[in-house]
Amino acid sequence: TDAIRPLIAGNWKMNGLKASTAEFDAMLNGAAGVAGRADLLVCPPVTLIAAFADRARGKAVVVGAQDCHPKASGAHTGDIAAEMLVDAGASAIIVGHSERRADHGEGDALVKQKAEAARRAGATAIVCIGETQTQRDAGQTLDILRGQLDGSLPDGSTAANLVVAYEPVWAIGTGLTPTAKDVEQIHGFIREFLTASFEADGARMRILYGGSVKPSNAAELMAVKNVNGALVGGASLKAADFLAIARGC
Ligand code: G3P
Repeated sequence: TDAIRPLIAGNWKMNGLKASTAEFDAMLNGAAGVAGRADLLVCPPVTLIAAFADRARGKAVVVGAQDCHPKASGAHTGDIAAEMLVDAGASAIIVGHSERRADHGEGDALVKQKAEAARRAGATAIVCIGETQTQRDAGQTLDILRGQLDGSLPDGSTAANLVVAYEPVWAIGTGLTPTAKDVEQIHGFIREFLTASFEADGARMRILYGGSVKPSNAAELMAVKNVNGALVGGASLKAADFLAIARGC
């Protein structure tokens, strides 16, 4: 009964040079083979967005970004506006990734402004939430997630302009993943929140799982109720792994 089309999103983080274009081309070449199963999105560093978006035209991969500034333009040296990312060819923007929350002290209010900026520019915001190991050990997971959802999601979001990514911080880049049962519980909790907040749109919004997704665990994780795709870090850097994850849908 779950008719939501999965999204497999690759977050390249601070990886990728012009030479990485060959790996991206391999993804483009393999994408047609998985297009029946899932939408594919690759978020390279900002330096590669325009070139990748040009190459992806007419192919079954779209290109996104990893962050944006809340404002559309102005005196903000070194920052990039959502409008610029869309102009370069991005159709989605990740906001509130735990690495930005940790490295740059980004809080929920700023993340919400960034998500609103993505929408203003015409891009889908992929809002990341997730608890740390310490919070998990203290039994605070659902309280933390509720607070992040409450604080980070723009009012009036739709299934087209908002995606939520659940990324337990302790599972990112560690090889650790929650059990399928834990993922089901947490994604069910997020679904309830989204439906309460956005009604019919909330029922159709994609909820991605992120954190050590790889070809060997993708099928099991993607089969969990209310898991509508994955946000993939390390394994999204290799075309073979990224495509194998998509085939797991
Ligand atoms: O945004 C994706 C990410 O944080 C997960 O990273 O390397 O554990 O797949 P990784």
